Amino acid sequence: MHLFQYRKGELYAEDVPVRRLAEEFGTPLYIYSYNTLLSHFKAYEDAFDSLPHIVCFALKANSNAAIVRLLAKNGGGADVVSGGELFRALKAGIPAEKIVYAGVGKTEEEIRYALKSGILMFNVESEDELLQIDRIAGTMKVKAPIALRINPDIDPQTHPYISTGLKKHKFGIPIEDALQYYGLANSLKNIKIVGIHKHIGSQLTKVSPFVDALKRILLLVDELKRQGIIIDYLDIGGGLGITYRDETPPDPAQLAKNILPLLKGRKLTIVLEPGRSIAGNAGILVTKTLYLKNGHEKKFVIVDAGMNDLIRPSIYGAYHHIQPVIKNRRNKIVADIVGPICESGDFLAKDREIPNVKKGEYLAVMSAGAYGFTMSSNYNSRPKAVEVMVKGRRYALIRKRETYHDIIKGEAIPEFV
Ligand code: LLP
Repeated sequence: MHLFQYRKGELYAEDVPVRRLAEEFGTPLYIYSYNTLLSHFKAYEDAFDSLPHIVCFALKANSNAAIVRLLAKNGGGADVVSGGELFRALKAGIPAEKIVYAGVGKTEEEIRYALKSGILMFNVESEDELLQIDRIAGTMKVKAPIALRINPDIDPQTHPYISTGLKKHKFGIPIEDALQYYGLANSLKNIKIVGIHKHIGSQLTKVSPFVDALKRILLLVDELKRQGIIIDYLDIGGGLGITYRDETPPDPAQLAKNILPLLKGRKLTIVLEPGRSIAGNAGILVTKTLYLKNGHEKKFVIVDAGMNDLIRPSIYGAYHHIQPVIKNRRNKIVADIVGPICESGDFLAKDREIPNVKKGEYLAVMSAGAYGFTMSSNYNSRPKAVEVMVKGRRYALIRKRETYHDIIKGEAIPEFV
């Protein structure tokens, strides 16, 4: 479900015409729908209502303060992977006890910050990291709450770059070694075991890998109990896919239907870490056509958003639907839709059939709310795009467009130059 729909041939974000926003704020422009975000979040809350649970939004998908605040106000937690994301989550009002912290490379400074903040748990990814957390917690005279991230060796059947739960991946601890690692964690003075974590990949379109991975993890939870190690929090990660083109991924209700029976009768709090399925279809990127170019072999539609604004097509070959903001009845053409960056890999779509666009026309790149702005950069010294949120008829700027001065902020020229 999302609230970017045509009304009489004109694309709206909720009750606001997209063209009006493009004219007022300029392009490239990210627009997010408040009610879409909320309904996606609530779908998780409703689906897991029968069990104690925390929906920890994965900030890597979209960390804008307004979006994180919206989720915080509705009871959401956060999945963070850096000190910066922890800072954002806390600032936006997520209670520390609803924050989980994953990632293979937490630095000493980040670990201290998280311990000081009182987060729910670290999702620990290696023995070295476990020992480091124990040591730091010792110096701070606190106990560090941890879960071990277990790699269940399940193929999530998604794009290789975004699958994480196989033996060959850098993430987590191999399931065969899990007992040994829990034993070690249990012996460390400044560590408190509170949970277990898994995350097998992103943009999953089937429910079976979730079920298979969970079954493996639950066997482990039982074995740990036999050994006197009690797990309170079961963090099943994120990963539910969305419809970019014609995928039909399970929704939170279908996920819950399949996994809740496995959890019945257990005294576990379920932690979920959805990112894409909350933010992906709640945002679009609006861009303006700058030029049309007819090459010998191809037609090009050159737009003002580039790979620095949305890098997913360039690095994953990802498909994003692209449609005109104002519908027209013109003939269709097949063209590459490309940005202004000096790289052949700078494209939003290849060999795409679209209605013949004209110079100056606005196009909407759909499903851009997750891993869009957060993966954007200043490459080619392009200021980052502006972000706007719409709620019904209301709308507001939620991040200013960067200026050239923002881009060079912090740079210095030494006197020996
Ligand atoms: N939890 C952990 C430990 C993760 O690594 C991730 C995503 C999530 C939760 C959230 O997963 P989601 O619900 O969004 O699928 N840049 C790529 C996606 C990378 C995902 C990395 N981890 C893309 O644009 O497709």
